[in-house]
Amino acid sequence: MPGHFITFEGGEGAGKSTQIRRLKAFLEAHGQTVTVSREPGGSPGAEKIRDMLLSGGAKDLGPRGEAMLFAAARADHVDNTINPALERGEWVLCDRYADSTRVYQGEAGVDPAYLDLLEVAATAGRRPELTILIDVPPEIGLKRVAARSKADGAGGPDRFEDEALAVHENRRRLFLDLAVKEAYRFEVIDGTGDQDAVTSAIETAVRERFSDAFPDASRVSALEEMS
Ligand SMILES: Nc1ncnc2c1ncn2[C@@H]1O[C@H](COP(=O)(O)OP(=O)(O)O)[C@@H](O)[C@H]1O
Ligand SMILES: [Mg+2]
Repeated sequence: MPGHFITFEGGEGAGKSTQIRRLKAFLEAHGQTVTVSREPGGSPGAEKIRDMLLSGGAKDLGPRGEAMLFAAARADHVDNTINPALERGEWVLCDRYADSTRVYQGEAGVDPAYLDLLEVAATAGRRPELTILIDVPPEIGLKRVAARSKADGAGGPDRFEDEALAVHENRRRLFLDLAVKEAYRFEVIDGTGDQDAVTSAIETAVRERFSDAFPDASRVSALEEMS
């Protein structure tokens, strides 16, 4: 049986990594097998490219060349991590995917038609069934990132965190626009609440979207519809 592919999107500090850990535990508690991955990276080849991208080492290529590197990493990730896990029937939870390229490289001024071509080439048709967009105002996300860096001694911000607030605001807007345009696969979750509130909203969305995997939830919603 093929598995299920869920991507998480949103700005820095939105809570993607936190919520992926929690959704993994939730799914495992329901007897599911889960692979967690991330972009850029997620496979040995793509992780090498990740270092180059996040250190800023690829900045000299310009936004178009950088987008091509993201695509190269994504192709490797799809072929070597995502597709094999789905073929094994697992749930794949991915921290960023093609939408991040549309938003980040789109915001940087790369022609959307060019990004579409790269996306087709990189994903080879592998699209998420559900995309959880965790939405927070950038001031909140960046504050969380600053606190996180301090706590884990990870040093300064990476190439994409270290940008003007207006840039982060543009990205937030672009993510929300995408969620409207492709509403059939997006679930926008308010990320400003506490972690438990966000987790519960995500679990509800997952139960609804994959009601076959959660027969109890589908019975409840059928009853609600009748009343
Ligand atoms: N809902 C929340 N409220 C407050 N702090 C949060 C919340 N979700 C995550 N955090 C904290 O904010 C920081 C960034 O969260 P993280 O999950 O790493 O975000 P992302 O992966 O989207 O960058 C972490 O230190 C995390 O513990
Ligand atoms: Mg993260």
